[in-house]
Amino acid sequence: MNGNRVFFMTLIGAFLTAFCTVDESTTDTEGAKLYQEYCADCHGKEMQAFVHHEWNFGTGKDAIKESIMKGRGEGAMPSYEGALSDKEIDNLVAYLVDGINKLDSYQPPEPDLSKIYKSGSFEYRLETVHEDLDSPWGIAFVDAESYFFTEKKGKLFRVYKSGATVEIDNVPEVNSAGQGGLMDVELHPDFKDNGWIYLSYSKTKSGVGRKSNTTAVSRFQIKDNMLVNEQEIFEGKPYSTTRHHYGSRMIFDREGYLYITMGDRGARSVNPQDLSKSAGKVHRLYDDGRVPTDNPFVDQQNAVSSIYSFGHRNQQGMAMDPNTGVIWTHEHGPRGGDELNRIIKSENYGWPVVSYGINYNGTRFTDETDRPEFESPTHYWVPSIAPCGMDFVTSDVYPGWKGHVLIGSLKFEQVNLVRIQNNQSMGEEVLMKGLGRVRDIKQSPDGYIYVSVERPGRIYRVVPWEEG
Ligand code: HEC
Repeated sequence: MNGNRVFFMTLIGAFLTAFCTVDESTTDTEGAKLYQEYCADCHGKEMQAFVHHEWNFGTGKDAIKESIMKGRGEGAMPSYEGALSDKEIDNLVAYLVDGINKLDSYQPPEPDLSKIYKSGSFEYRLETVHEDLDSPWGIAFVDAESYFFTEKKGKLFRVYKSGATVEIDNVPEVNSAGQGGLMDVELHPDFKDNGWIYLSYSKTKSGVGRKSNTTAVSRFQIKDNMLVNEQEIFEGKPYSTTRHHYGSRMIFDREGYLYITMGDRGARSVNPQDLSKSAGKVHRLYDDGRVPTDNPFVDQQNAVSSIYSFGHRNQQGMAMDPNTGVIWTHEHGPRGGDELNRIIKSENYGWPVVSYGINYNGTRFTDETDRPEFESPTHYWVPSIAPCGMDFVTSDVYPGWKGHVLIGSLKFEQVNLVRIQNNQSMGEEVLMKGLGRVRDIKQSPDGYIYVSVERPGRIYRVVPWEEG
């Protein structure tokens, strides 16, 4: 081969290489893959979280790159510098810039309401009971015909037998930013007599600079569709400027104790293992906020006396097994390692010392999944399903579901049925695939299951399918 030809071939090679590396489809595929692996958990499979988003740092290439390199939201989004190569980050930037430009025309997928779902030989479908809601969060039934529900931005509604939906005013001011807002609603076991309604929310303390927040619970009575007689019964300490991992579920047990979950507020190395901090714990109180004298850490110096169990990450689901009276919670793992736990007094659930998960940016923080001194999960999920909302099925409406627990998935937009026997997990089944990001699940006193979902904001009732 003469010199000229070699030179010419090399030139073509170089041209092809250069051409291929900037070829859009290659970049797209690589960027899309990376996005699904590293970013979709928090920003949505189709970047839904960025729809109508007010950009803090801008949408230009440099701004996006800086967000990825540095991380954002005070640790809520990790830094990817070092975890991903420069080329991978550039591919992600290209994918994001392109995707963001298309978001204005984004339409959330409509769940197909004519769809008949199947579980074994049982067929069921979804019936819309409320639509056009703005991130419905908690649901609490008064009786079979009436219930309350919250919207995250700070609204509370009561639904009556006729279907009339009435807004209840005078809700405390909530900081509806990040994962915070008005979250759960729970009713006193004697609500019909005493009218106490409990709300959990992100409470703000305005000081100098950025707002500080915490998980708080207040109870109220209702007069003329307004909340009155507020009594604050729980205020997590200390406040922090992060806007995620509030936890915030509430449930009463058979004896009338109120349990409250509080997430680790994004400070895993500070909060969950420290009994002088409220975050990363399950708390137990009397209905009026007093601390039961038999709580496990009441006699321990500096410990927060309401703590019942600790070493938790972010528990957005809690329910009582009506057969055993045992309280169950689930919690979000980081990337992988979501857990379903049976809550036992004084136990340590091990976060962040042990976990089945890894960091969002792919790096590891522990190789240990269990230790004898920690309570291990009854069930765990790798990859994460991002659990939110849960309830036990006790009714005969749904053959095969009775006695088992339903858990909502934000990430997979479905409900997972975990079969529980003698407090052990006997496996799971996926239900209602494609339903939307699930926030809460409650069985009504008449036995029907209600599910709240965001984007599009709706409440569904799950009904058996009957032909004709
Ligand atoms: C664990 C959750 C999480 C993961 C994983 C995550 N992010 Fe974020 N991201 C956040 C949070 C929280 C914010 C801050 C939002 C705020 O301040 O309102 C944020 C902010 C951003 C912003 C800036 C938005 C703005 O308003 O300017 C960009 C861009 C971004 N993320 C892109 C990504 C990309 C790309 C990935 C994957 C490499 C990723 N994120 C992974 C949670 C996450």
